[in-house]
Amino acid sequence: MEDLRSFLEELESRGELRRVRAPVSVELEIAEILRRVARGGPALLFENIEGFEGWRLTGNLFSKMERVKLALGVEKLEEAGERFTRLTKGPPPLTLGEKVRTLREAASFGRYLPKMSKALWKDNEWDEPDLNKVPAIRTWPKDAGRFFTFPIVITRDPETGIYHFGVYRMQIMGKDVTGMHWHIHKRGAAYYDKYGEEMPVAVAVGVDPAVAFAAVAPVPEGIDSYLFAGVMAGRSIGVAKGESGLLIPSSAELVMEGTVPPGETRIEGPFGDHMGYYTPPAPFPVFRVRRIYTREDPIFHATVVGYPWLEDAVLGKAVERTFLPFVRMLMPEVVDLNLPEYGLFHGLAIVSIRKRYPGHAKQVAMGLLGLGQFSLTKMIVVVDHDVNVHDLNQVMYAVASTVDPQRDVQIVENAVADELDHASVAPRMGGKMVVDATRKLREEIGRDWPEPVAPDPEVARRVDERWSELGI
Ligand SMILES: Cc1cc2nc3c(=O)[nH]c(=O)nc-3n(C[C@H](O)[C@H](O)[C@H](O)COP(=O)(O)O)c2cc1C
Repeated sequence: MEDLRSFLEELESRGELRRVRAPVSVELEIAEILRRVARGGPALLFENIEGFEGWRLTGNLFSKMERVKLALGVEKLEEAGERFTRLTKGPPPLTLGEKVRTLREAASFGRYLPKMSKALWKDNEWDEPDLNKVPAIRTWPKDAGRFFTFPIVITRDPETGIYHFGVYRMQIMGKDVTGMHWHIHKRGAAYYDKYGEEMPVAVAVGVDPAVAFAAVAPVPEGIDSYLFAGVMAGRSIGVAKGESGLLIPSSAELVMEGTVPPGETRIEGPFGDHMGYYTPPAPFPVFRVRRIYTREDPIFHATVVGYPWLEDAVLGKAVERTFLPFVRMLMPEVVDLNLPEYGLFHGLAIVSIRKRYPGHAKQVAMGLLGLGQFSLTKMIVVVDHDVNVHDLNQVMYAVASTVDPQRDVQIVENAVADELDHASVAPRMGGKMVVDATRKLREEIGRDWPEPVAPDPEVARRVDERWSELGI
């Protein structure tokens, strides 16, 4: 599945795609339809978009975990993350078997690097870029206009040449200009700050699903997004060179090349965002489009966000699973992790640990709060290894039974906050809460933790044996 089209074919062959032949409007209607299927419904392919002849539009590709796994060609998402940790900074192999496997993988590292291939997108017949001809959608009634909601924004670090992809929404602001809504904490914004001059940027829409996943994932600093996408998918990504010199996925449906000029901003928004509220208008950099290329009969790709949970929550869950091996590589005491859908990805993290010493839970929580995009997490609840983090009742039991709020809840003031957190004390700055919901050690409370109740094993065995006889 090296492009969007083959992914759509695969989805259709599995009964996971519906074609919509009735005419639909990019003004709110497509978004309303997408929202109705966003909780695990089929992917959609709209074949008749009013006012945009020649285009088709697809959405809701990733609203089921099975479809994200299909996109990456894995049975378990952790496999994809483990492939990466083994290849890069993984722990040294412990057994001879492990060593052989690791060496073999290291030798084949090159097969995940991007490979040059002929671009399937080409110059269209328009004289100059005209975004009025592109079927980006308006998603909520008070949105400031039509937005690209799943653009793959491709940038390159001016110092290292490392490529990065991010999905940053883009508001159409004119025929050849859009907003560039990269938050200050994201890598696109960091490269922009480094540039100091007009920054070449390419945007691809409708891509190989592994590239789409890499653009959503918080790829650690220093790792090239093309390589990351290649390792995630277990194959290399086909690329072609654009006019700007940037490498661009060769099978993209739509490609825009242009620049983000330094210092130029425009008011972006409002936009109904994934917190379930409208982001208030605020100044953001702009993307000046120089060229637009499309494939023959192009397919636009869009998503919708809003009151959870929607498609982005599934992508968030997929990121949680693929990144667990990365977290474990840095903090081996971490057993499991849950970023609940209603926690809005950055709102709440529940992490279980194999606790060994006093203060261990706080150590892990503080470590996570300093780790890449984890730093945007607002509340972290740490539980013991035997608590299933995905069972919120077990988590609540741990909180209710092990926490004294005066001792086990820490508030960190004036830390970084997600740009979209409407509750924070100030934009991009807010508090953190760490809840240590692990059983306490003697050193932590000055007395022994009570013994948990457990049945007498002999009596339990007898009751098991006699269960049918009891007629219950
Ligand atoms: C549908 C969707 C829309 C998103 N919109 C934005 C956005 O407008 N601005 C932003 O900074 N991040 C946005 N994100 C999150 C980034 O894509 C995500 O944080 C990604 O890891 C890029 O972060 P990085 O640049 O630090 O790697 C969006 C994610 C999704 C799934």
